[in-house]
Amino acid sequence: MKVLAITLWVLLFFILKNTKFVVCVGICRENEQRALETLKKEIHNLSDIPSSWIVGKDCCVWEGVVCNNLTRHVIELHLGYVTRHEEIERGMFYYWNEYTYPRINSLEWLPSLSSLENLEMESVDLSKANEWLQVINMLPSLVDLRLYNCSLHHITPLLDYHNFSSLKSLDLSENLNLNSSVPKWVFNLPNLVSLDLNYCNFTGPFPDGPVNLSSLTTFKASGNPFNCRLPKWLFDLNNLEHLELRYGGIEGAIQSKSGNITKLKYLDLFLNNLNSTIPNWLYQCKDLESLFLGRNRLEGTVSSLISNLSSIIRIDLFDNMLSGKLPNVIGKLGKLGDLDLSNNLFEGDISELFNVRSNFLSVGLRNTSFLSTLSLHNNKLTGALPESVGQLSMLEDFTISNNRLEGAVTESHFSKLTHLWYFYASRNNLTLKVSRNWIPSFQATIIKIGGWNIGPLFPMWLRTQKKISEVDISNCGIQGEVPTWFWKLSSQIDFLNISHNQFVGEVPIISIDEQSGFPLMYLASNNFSGQIPLISSNVRELDLSNNSLSKGLSNFLCEAKNGSYELKILNLGGNDLSEEIPDCWMNWPELTVVILRDNNLIGSLPRSMEVLSSLLSLDLRRNRLNGPFPSSLENCTKLHKIDLAENEFIGKLPSWLGMRFPTLIVLILRSNKFDGELPQELCHLKDLQILDLANNTFVGIIPRCIGNLSAMVKGKKEMEDDVEINYSFYYGTLIESAMVTTKGNMYQYDTILALFTSMDMSSNNLSGDIPISVTRLVGLRSFNLSKNNLTGKIPNDIGDMKVLESVDLSENQLYGQIPQSFSSLSTLSYLNLSDNYLSGMIPLSTQLQSFDPTSFQGNKLYGLPLLVNCSSDGNIPNHKHEDEESDKDEVDWFYISMAIGFALSFWGVCGSLLFKRSWRHAYFRFLDRSWEMLLAKLPVC
Ligand SMILES: *[C@@H]1O[C@H](CO)[C@@H](O)[C@H](O)[C@H]1NC(C)=O
Ligand SMILES: *[C@@H]1O[C@H](CO)[C@@H](O)[C@H](O)[C@H]1NC(C)=O
Ligand SMILES: *[C@@H]1O[C@H](CO)[C@@H](O)[C@H](O)[C@H]1NC(C)=O
Ligand SMILES: *[C@@H]1O[C@H](CO)[C@@H](O)[C@H](O)[C@H]1NC(C)=O
Ligand SMILES: *[C@@H]1O[C@H](CO)[C@@H](O)[C@H](O)[C@H]1NC(C)=O
Repeated sequence: MKVLAITLWVLLFFILKNTKFVVCVGICRENEQRALETLKKEIHNLSDIPSSWIVGKDCCVWEGVVCNNLTRHVIELHLGYVTRHEEIERGMFYYWNEYTYPRINSLEWLPSLSSLENLEMESVDLSKANEWLQVINMLPSLVDLRLYNCSLHHITPLLDYHNFSSLKSLDLSENLNLNSSVPKWVFNLPNLVSLDLNYCNFTGPFPDGPVNLSSLTTFKASGNPFNCRLPKWLFDLNNLEHLELRYGGIEGAIQSKSGNITKLKYLDLFLNNLNSTIPNWLYQCKDLESLFLGRNRLEGTVSSLISNLSSIIRIDLFDNMLSGKLPNVIGKLGKLGDLDLSNNLFEGDISELFNVRSNFLSVGLRNTSFLSTLSLHNNKLTGALPESVGQLSMLEDFTISNNRLEGAVTESHFSKLTHLWYFYASRNNLTLKVSRNWIPSFQATIIKIGGWNIGPLFPMWLRTQKKISEVDISNCGIQGEVPTWFWKLSSQIDFLNISHNQFVGEVPIISIDEQSGFPLMYLASNNFSGQIPLISSNVRELDLSNNSLSKGLSNFLCEAKNGSYELKILNLGGNDLSEEIPDCWMNWPELTVVILRDNNLIGSLPRSMEVLSSLLSLDLRRNRLNGPFPSSLENCTKLHKIDLAENEFIGKLPSWLGMRFPTLIVLILRSNKFDGELPQELCHLKDLQILDLANNTFVGIIPRCIGNLSAMVKGKKEMEDDVEINYSFYYGTLIESAMVTTKGNMYQYDTILALFTSMDMSSNNLSGDIPISVTRLVGLRSFNLSKNNLTGKIPNDIGDMKVLESVDLSENQLYGQIPQSFSSLSTLSYLNLSDNYLSGMIPLSTQLQSFDPTSFQGNKLYGLPLLVNCSSDGNIPNHKHEDEESDKDEVDWFYISMAIGFALSFWGVCGSLLFKRSWRHAYFRFLDRSWEMLLAKLPVC
């Protein structure tokens, strides 16, 4: 665009130079001449004033100045052009850093140009010209005012009168600091045709109206924090053709009634919070070419009336909550080039889109389909892929991943797809049925068909794809060895996912061309054996988990010859690796995630791990590692997770553990041989959400400061943070997870990890009482101090911990009554207080009485649900446990989450670019994921 604009300027320059000025020497009016000479003096920071700007020489021949040849008045002033033309002529493109904008501090000379019709000062710094508006308001003939990127920071909200009645075009865009609402006078310009307010930091609301903008055809106001509803008058602007209001926090409805807005060609309301249905009037806009309503919360269906939009080229409705059947458009809308309906709730047969029942398809598609992008990712579409897809000869980007499509996909589905470039179709129940020597008509760069039924034989046709750079054939039921040609092909590959098949054999050296960028290799959950393969230094992510790799890590880690590796993610969990971890980590300084869990590694952690200063996640669970808490981690200060569970670590916890990891979220030291007292410093771990010290031999008291663990106070609820902690370049490929023991079971938390909080110190030798400060942890969900020697009473205010779901204080020596406040723990679904010295009556609440009597046994308690009736006042209500069943009926969605981790999307190309979501969306995401999980559980395809 910029280049085009510049080209046009240059062109204009020649036109002006060659036509206008040659004949008109000496016509400039004297006062206007003086005004322009003043202007010349006012221009700061400009290295070259144009050579034609000579004091005393007729100003009508000055570059950028246009005079009327009859009245001799200056009618146009193109300052932006003038101040930049030298650079343009020298071919310098100054847009970003180096260029300092010319500055004009005073516009007092301007009113002298009383006939000015066209004033353009693009990218001239007017930040010091505070009076700019008042001065410009003295130009009664102004038609076209262009103040793009002029560093304006103040705009007068009210003008006593305004002279802009002839204004047709007003451009104030990219004055990023206007910081006010749009001034009222802007809405009272009856001749205005074009209004551009993009990126001005204008706030809402808009005036209620009525407004006087009856000539307006173009209205742009994207990127302003309006945070208000759409003004009612907006869709009554009969002449509106181009409306751009993206990314403005616009909320509420797109009004269902509009006046006569039938001329609309371009409607862009992308990335707001609109939550209505798509209004019917929109389908009447026969001239509409571009429709961008993506990333809102629109609901309802897409009407079949959409086929009225005979001019439409782009339809973007992605990331809304639209439902119902797919609109039947392909073959009807002959100009349609892009259709993006992904991330909605569309259901029904995918063939709706193609209207196979009518004959339209064969007629309509053959020559007229310009469709180049079709994206239906992440809906609930069913049925078989219609063969007519293969007729979309212009299709380049075809995305149907994450649906419920089933049936066979054959060669004819691709027969004319000669332009296919991106094919995203993972996670459907589709079966590829092509001949063994199929030669596809396309040369794609991205092919993602994870989860399809393809095996048991290797898909030989991949060999024909010479431009391939991303392949996902995970979970496709392919067996046997990976052919040598494929390993060779993979040398040009950026992203390879062949995980969850039944591949055997050794993985050869993974050597990737330097120009392939930073490859990601996912080979997990197969039956690969032998040693860990060597990799080339540019590999970024390597996942070989859950295979049968054996021997030690030495060969792999210590191989580095020249320079160091770029590897960020290393997952070797779930193999048969043995021996000690070698002291070769100095070659791997970029590592952020190291997963070695579930192997047979022995020895202590080597010193060289101290170079891993970027490490975010360390999982060594279930090996036979020993030694004290590894001091080599002292420099890994960015860690989010440390999981050393089920090893043979010994000794006291160092006090620096609490001081060196300010962002630690997960600390799991369960089932080791740690001992000694718990350091006070643990309380400094302000981000800690999961603390698991269970099954060690810690002694002494629980630190009194434990109530300072602020992440357990807040929960993550109030934070506008993403709920997942993503590590992979591909959003969702590797997210942080933690094994958490709660409610008497172990679960894997990943997608909702950021929402969970747990403290487990069970099975130690802790003594003393439960610190009262614990009750400050009002964001804690799971709390387990069982099997210690704790004495004293349960803190009275335990009822303040409103989100507790699981409480286990069993097998201690607690005494006294169960605090009355317990009855306010309405989310409690697991409780074990057994085997203490508790006494008195169990407080009444629907919740407490619904637990099994074993939750209370081994105490001196009475009252329901215990059967022993030793009531002193004989006044125990005798109701049955009505709630017993309802408790079980509740979907335990935390439980469901444990299986989800594997089924994550490799699709998220754009995902990582998208904006952070608040935790409130977690639930919806979770629903998304949970059906993915169901898909992942399908019988191996
Ligand atoms: C003056 O300019 C107008 C267009 O602006 C043009 O049509 C006309 O021929 C010009 N007259 C002279 C005398 O150059
Ligand atoms: C936008 O305006 C608000 C006040 O309305 C101000 O707090 C904020 O800093 C401004 N943003 C920018 C980028 O100037
Ligand atoms: C839509 O959003 C508005 C404002 O945010 C809210 O008042 C209204 O209840 C929402 N409507 C629906 C159907 O969600
Ligand atoms: C729609 O346009 C017609 C004719 O152009 C006019 O008579 C009518 O008043 C307009 N309706 C609205 C609501 O503006
Ligand atoms: C997947 O498709 C196969 C046949 O194509 C069918 O037998 C199987 O039931 C389908 N699975 C599900 C969960 O729909």
